[in-house]
Parts: sequence; C-alpha cells; structure tokens
Amino acid sequence: MIVDGKPTLPWFLKLMLLVAIASITSSGSAFAASDLANVVGPNACAECHKTETANWKSTLHFRTFREMPRRKKTKEIAKKMGIKRVKSDALCLDCHFTSQLVKSKPKPVAGISCESCHSPGKNWEKVHSKYMGGKVKEPAGGAAIRWKESEDAGMIRPSNLYNLAKNCYNCHVVPKEKLVNVGGHPAGSAFELVSWSQGEVRHNTWYTKQNNPASAKRKRILYVVGLAVELETSLRAVGKATQKKAYAVSMARRASAARKKLIKVAKALPEAPELIEIIKASKSAKLKLNNDAALNAAADKVGKATMSVVSKYDGSTFAAVDALIPGADKYKGKPSQ
Ligand code: HEC
Ligand code: HEC
Ligand code: HEC
Ligand code: HEC
Repeated sequence: MIVDGKPTLPWFLKLMLLVAIASITSSGSAFAASDLANVVGPNACAECHKTETANWKSTLHFRTFREMPRRKKTKEIAKKMGIKRVKSDALCLDCHFTSQLVKSKPKPVAGISCESCHSPGKNWEKVHSKYMGGKVKEPAGGAAIRWKESEDAGMIRPSNLYNLAKNCYNCHVVPKEKLVNVGGHPAGSAFELVSWSQGEVRHNTWYTKQNNPASAKRKRILYVVGLAVELETSLRAVGKATQKKAYAVSMARRASAARKKLIKVAKALPEAPELIEIIKASKSAKLKLNNDAALNAAADKVGKATMSVVSKYDGSTFAAVDALIPGADKYKGKPSQ
C-alpha cells in the first residue's frame, strides 16, 4: 500500500503489531509495557547511589537474574506453561526481571532492581537529582517543588508507602491463576512488609550511613499499611479466580487472613477510623469465583482508605500495635553493613 509515495503497513500488519504489544502488557503486574521504554537500568542509579547499589547486590532480587533461569523448578514451570525461554516470556519477565525495550522488544537487563520498586526513572531521574554537586544552588524552598515534580514524573519515594508497598504485593501475591494452577508456580510468598523489608532488602543508607533499621513509628506504619495493601491485592487476586483450584483457595485464604489481622489492628487503634472503613469495604464483596467487578470495587475502596492512612498518620500514635509486629528474628535475610 502506497500513500503519498511512502509505503505504509497494510492494516493487518498494524493489527498484528498491536496484538504483539498487547501481549506484552497483558500480564502487567509490575509495570506496563509503555513503562519499559522509561527504564534506565540499575547502572544509571549506581552512578550516584553507590551504597544502595552495593546493598542491592547482596539480595536475592539481584541474584535471581542468573539463578532463576537455571533452577529445575523453573524448567518444570516453563514446560507446563509451554514457554521455551523464560528470559523472553512476558509473564516471567514481569516479576523476575527488569527489562528495557531494545528494538521495541523487552530485553532483561537485571533481576528485580531499583526501578521495580521506585518506578522507571527516565522521566524523574534527572529531576530528583538536579542540584546534586552544588554547581547550581537550589533556591530556598525549592526542594518541595523538586520532589513534587519528581513524583509527578512517576518517582515512588519512601514517603509514598502506599505505592511502594503495592509494587511488592503485586509481585509477591502472584495474582496469576493459570501460572499457579497450570504452571505449579508458588501461590505467592508468605510476605509481610516489616519482616521482608528490614532484612536483606533494607538500604537506609542515603541520609545516614549506618543502614539503621526503620524507627519504631515507621515500623508501625509499615506493618499496618502492609496488611491493608495485602488485603487490597488479594481481593483483586480472588476477583481473577475462575476455577475452584489451588489459586482460588490460596488467594481467598490470603484475603481472609489479612482481614483478620486488620480487625485486631483496628481494635488496638480506635483513633484510626480508616481501619474500620477498610474492613467494612473488604466485606462488601464475597470471596467467590467470577466476582471480579465487585471485588475490584471493594479493593478500590480499601486502597483509598489506605492512602489516607499513609497521609494522615506517621505511626507515633500507633504504639498499641507494637506487640503484633514481627521482631528482628523474623526478618528475611541479613541487612548489609
Ligand atoms: C545524578 C545523581 C543521581 C542519580 C543518577 C540518581 N539519584 Fe537518586 N538521589 C540523588 C540525590 C542527590 C538524592 C537526594 C536529594 C535530596 O535529598 O534532596 C537522591 C534521592 C533518592 C531517593 C530518596 C528520595 C526521598 O524521598 O528521600 C530515592 C528513592 C532515589 N534517589 C532513587 C534513585 C533511583 C531509583 C535512581 C535510578 C533510576 C536514582 N535515584 C538515580 C541523586 C541521584
Ligand atoms: C506475579 C509475579 C510473578 C510471575 C508472573 C512469575 N513469578 Fe516466579 N515467583 C514470584 C515470586 C514472588 C516468587 C517467590 C515465591 C516465594 O516467596 O516462595 C517466585 C518464585 C519462583 C520460583 C522459585 C519457586 C520455588 O519453589 O523455589 C521459580 C522457579 C519461578 N518463580 C519461576 C517463574 C517462571 C518460570 C515464571 C514465568 C512462567 C514466573 N516465575 C512468573 C513471582 C512471579
Ligand atoms: C524491593 C524494592 C526496592 C528495591 C529493589 C530498591 N528499593 Fe530503594 N527503597 C525501598 C523501600 C521500601 C524504601 C523505604 C524504606 C523505609 O522507608 O522504611 C527505599 C528507600 C530508598 C532510599 C532512601 C534511603 C534512606 O537513606 O532513607 C533510596 C536513596 C533508595 N531507596 C534508592 C534505591 C536504589 C538506588 C536502588 C537500586 C540500587 C533501590 N533503592 C532498590 C524499596 C526498594
Ligand atoms: C517485580 C517484582 C517484585 C517486586 C516489586 C518485589 N519483589 Fe521481592 N521478590 C520477587 C521475586 C520474584 C523473588 C524471588 C526470586 C527468586 O526466587 O529467585 C523475591 C524475593 C524477595 C525476598 C527474598 C526472599 C527469600 O526467600 O529469601 C525478599 C526479602 C523480598 N523479595 C522482599 C521484597 C520487598 C520488601 C519488596 C517491596 C519493597 C519486594 N520484595 C518487591 C519479586 C519482587
């Protein structure tokens, strides 16, 4: 087909391209294909964040890049799923790797890395660091503007614990029915935000050099927000269940276990009415098969109330949950330094 003297793609080839792009996004748990074009890769962050990068290199998130494709279990799952190469399959790439677009195809460049949690950096990396080095001085009051610009460009800062935690749970709950039921993939991790973020993953090394554990009040927020995001994510996961098999059963158990824990938390913290709202919202949809719309609506409400917990409280008044929070003996892996 020739238009204005230039060859254009026939419509059916365009359609095939669109379908190819859609199949990259379809599994979309960590971030969408459109975002892959914005991934700068961990080496770009390492230029300034040397200590955080060294920490990351001691985690399974880093090692999985080499280790995962070689495991026997990987080969078993891939075979059952009819996948030839896990490093070029969109589903596996999504949760196990960081990919960049090379010739418009996703190419894995690392395991689970900086941008898997803080979001792809292309549009915010230069913004958040623009006065580094001190050649140009930041105007008084400029930091607040710079942080707002960074967040508007997609950066997920530690203060935005809701979005940060959502990234962890979107991978760690494993909300993929076929992968679990057909592939025999684990139906999620026994994930809890304090214990899983304070071990090997911890990298509080930018503002202080000692990699200090989270403060008591920060841990309370991590704990409460972690449970709420667990509940939200597992409600959505149950929504995707269409068969009464391993997947549906584990996701429903997950949702009801998170809700039970939150009921305890809400009793301990009567000053935070948002928690009651979260529990009520989660009960507004039944944990049953083929109930996607109602469960997503309930999850949306849980998410909204969780965001207001993050913006309203800093944990200083939440001492009553201290007894519920897992102690250092439960931390996953050892923090570096
Ligand atoms: C050119 C140097 C530079 C590069 C490259 C860089 N950063 Fe930063 N980063 C900084 C500086 C400087 C700060 C602290 C700014 C401040 O305190 O005002 C910072 C702070 C941060 C913070 C803490 C934000 C907060 O809320 O306190 C995170 C998270 C972060 N960077 C992640 C990244 C990631 C992920 C990448 C790669 C995509 C990256 N950075 C690349 C210089 C850099
Ligand atoms: C939704 C996110 C997600 C997707 C998609 C995903 N994984 Fe995983 N995978 C995980 C998480 C999280 C774990 C860690 C589970 C745990 O804590 O035990 C894991 C663990 C594994 C393990 C170790 C299991 C064990 O029993 O030791 C293998 C092997 C694996 N995944 C292979 C794959 C393959 C192959 C694919 C693509 C077909 C894939 N995964 C897709 C999130 C995912
Ligand atoms: C598994 C998810 C995850 C990965 C991977 C990750 N981060 Fe973070 N990062 C976090 C979380 C969570 C926090 C906040 C912890 C808290 O507030 O208790 C954080 C905090 C930070 C901070 C603030 C540190 C401070 O001193 O307060 C910086 C800077 C940072 N990350 C940069 C990076 C860079 C650079 C990489 C890659 C080398 C990276 N992160 C990889 C989740 C992650
Ligand atoms: C992009 C998906 C993804 C995100 C986001 C993610 N993880 Fe992971 N994480 C994984 C996978 C997959 C594994 C298992 C890798 C393997 O088995 O090789 C893992 C492993 C871990 C481990 C090691 C567990 C062990 O058995 O030793 C910890 C700890 C962990 N994650 C904590 C976190 C925390 C905390 C966050 C959020 C701040 C987070 N992860 C975000 C995918 C993710």
